[in-house]
Amino acid sequence: PKERWFGSSYLYKYNGFWLSPEMLPGLIACQNNFQAQDTDVLLISTPKSGTTWLKALTFTLANRKIYPINQNHPLLKQNPHSLMPIMEFFFSPEKLNPDLSCPLGRLYSSHCPLALLPESVLKSGCKIVYLCRNIKDTFVSYWHFSKKLGAEASLEEFFYMFCEGMSLSGPVWDHLLGYWRESLENPEKVLFLKYEALQEKPSFHLKLLAEFMGCPISPEEETCGFVDEVLGLCSFDNLSNLEVNKSGTFWTVRNEMFFRKGKVGDWKNYLTSEMAERIDHITAQKFFGSGLSL
Ligand code: A3P
Repeated sequence: PKERWFGSSYLYKYNGFWLSPEMLPGLIACQNNFQAQDTDVLLISTPKSGTTWLKALTFTLANRKIYPINQNHPLLKQNPHSLMPIMEFFFSPEKLNPDLSCPLGRLYSSHCPLALLPESVLKSGCKIVYLCRNIKDTFVSYWHFSKKLGAEASLEEFFYMFCEGMSLSGPVWDHLLGYWRESLENPEKVLFLKYEALQEKPSFHLKLLAEFMGCPISPEEETCGFVDEVLGLCSFDNLSNLEVNKSGTFWTVRNEMFFRKGKVGDWKNYLTSEMAERIDHITAQKFFGSGLSL
């Protein structure tokens, strides 16, 4: 793979996508060995599009029989990322197909572009929940996160690289298009979600998610207020104020770094109108004719 310095670490271009040194060996190990099962659910997202939120929601839904929502719920003591490993970081040639059992089957997450997924993911009945976000907000969130990880590049330099396609598992536009097209061709396989839509209609999307994952919310659960309980537990305000997320770490990242503002449209506070136009222009060109808009 080709390598380039990216402000705080190297990124490697592999089959058209930029991957980190931590991601690449695990991804290749997965491509060669990982056997997806029909009952697996894979959460895939572009970095900084709300993965933490989606992990919390899906973990709570899938495990609700063994972990009812009460003061002992795992999310109150563990960061959502610790409860759902990232496939390409967690798997390794020595540790393939670990048992991540939950009542529904295995649940794990990934930032892997569609074109680089292990063959068995697409060939099996394994389901994919895909989450993306407005690209300007994704960029701003990514910029803040990278700064906290020690990136030296300025906002302008970061922006230039991002628009050239250089971001973790970028180009972000190609990442999105891959899963968008797959979701159109195969809606039973890929549920395509947008962060803004989740914010706007959380109950609707929680029910959709549960249905897609094969654990629909029953009329009794609805009557008992289960939907609001899940949304409350997984809300930005609740999770970001938990002690574990204020002080703990996940791998090399402080948990608090996964929570910043959790708002739609924060890009307006950081991007000049020229920058916003540039992203809009690239997005319009890349998405032209695809039916996808953000
Ligand atoms: P901001 O930086 O815009 O605040 P990821 O989880 O993919 O790393 O994405 C991080 C982004 O999702 C951050 O956005 C973070 O604040 C936001 N986020 C984290 N948890 C959230 C939650 N429970 N609800 C809504 N947004 C959340």
